[in-house]
Amino acid sequence: MSETLQARLAEALAPLANPRTGASLYQTQQVRDIAATRDGKVRVTLLLGTQDDPVLARQVRQALESVEGVTDVRVDVKDAAQAAPSGAAESAPASKPAGGRTLPVMGEPAGAPKPPAPPTPVSYPGLGRIIAVSSGKGGVGKSTVTTNLAIALAQAGYRVGLMDADIYGPNIPRMMGVDAAPPVKDEKIQPLEAHGVKLISLGFLIERDQPAIWRGPIVMKIITQFLRDVDWGELDVLLVDMPPGTGDAQLSLVQATSVAGAVIVTTPQEVAVGDALRGAMMFRRVGVPVLGVVENMSYFESPETGKPMAIFGSGGGKRLADELKVPLLGEIPLHPPVLEGADRGAPIVVSGAASSAAKKLGEVALAVVRQLGVAAPR
Ligand SMILES: Nc1ncnc2c1ncn2[C@@H]1O[C@H](COP(=O)(O)OP(=O)(O)O)[C@@H](O)[C@H]1O
Ligand SMILES: [Mg+2]
Repeated sequence: MSETLQARLAEALAPLANPRTGASLYQTQQVRDIAATRDGKVRVTLLLGTQDDPVLARQVRQALESVEGVTDVRVDVKDAAQAAPSGAAESAPASKPAGGRTLPVMGEPAGAPKPPAPPTPVSYPGLGRIIAVSSGKGGVGKSTVTTNLAIALAQAGYRVGLMDADIYGPNIPRMMGVDAAPPVKDEKIQPLEAHGVKLISLGFLIERDQPAIWRGPIVMKIITQFLRDVDWGELDVLLVDMPPGTGDAQLSLVQATSVAGAVIVTTPQEVAVGDALRGAMMFRRVGVPVLGVVENMSYFESPETGKPMAIFGSGGGKRLADELKVPLLGEIPLHPPVLEGADRGAPIVVSGAASSAAKKLGEVALAVVRQLGVAAPR
């Protein structure tokens, strides 16, 4: 991160105080893990206690958005009571006391404080096979892969649902080109439909800047509601776009229902693989098989000539797949039309079906259903 941007971010955060304690959010590290990319995407963690005003999240966001050079801000709200001390988060052992929510460890003796008993998973036979698409980090193309897999399966004749459970950046509606509140009929939420896929998103129901509700029990409620109260009809597969990392949404999904498998999206860079590995292990630990790894932005493909032009990083997807002993399902090129398609609601398997990115995504989709033994469409 550029020194100067870092300094400007710190400066912008400095005046913010917690009204409850009067203490500086920055100095007391209530705002922490400040990270920025060279193109100005900023991500911070805000620790909120139960008595803290959730409006703080908005203030932090606004303060950061006002900084010169910042193009995008993401504030991850974490429960202060459950946060590891700063810097210790990455190295925290999986068996830290229950209540640390990063890694669900079922059946372990609980330390204090005792979390509520996990609900019993409910099966929803009408939803077909539920597939979680997850990644270690944001921005690796998880939603891009999810939307394209969903559409590719619909094109192949499967009945497909798509649930956007990314509580931090629910952007599936935009990528799919729909933006309307889902109607409610006979007490059932009607999913929207785009490109042959039925979809529902947190983005339809929740406004930005309402971070206080992203707490465990409420995430659980929303996910359960999406499974139970949405009029999905009969599906063959339901793809779930998870938030990055290993948080409440992952835990909620596996506690709410039985998940057939997880697909892990990563990029070739080593650093992404570290987080992705942790995410994959979390699914394993709760009995969800990892179906395979998709490496996205594997190489640059010229939009003019279609030729591979350069390689970024190297082989991260393959290494992760080997580590997990699962197949590398595909290597998707970094191909500008993928982004352009997503921006106008026409994912690449629709807007550029002949491109190698689209073909590879189509192959990944079929490999996934084949692996799960989903019956061929009638
Ligand atoms: N293979 C690709 N080629 C070009 N752009 C891509 C590709 N995959 C993703 N993108 C773009 O990168 C950005 C991040 O992708 P997104 O799917 O939103 O990531 P995530 O869901 O992991 O946060 C988006 O603007 C998306 O359009
Ligand atoms: Mg996303």
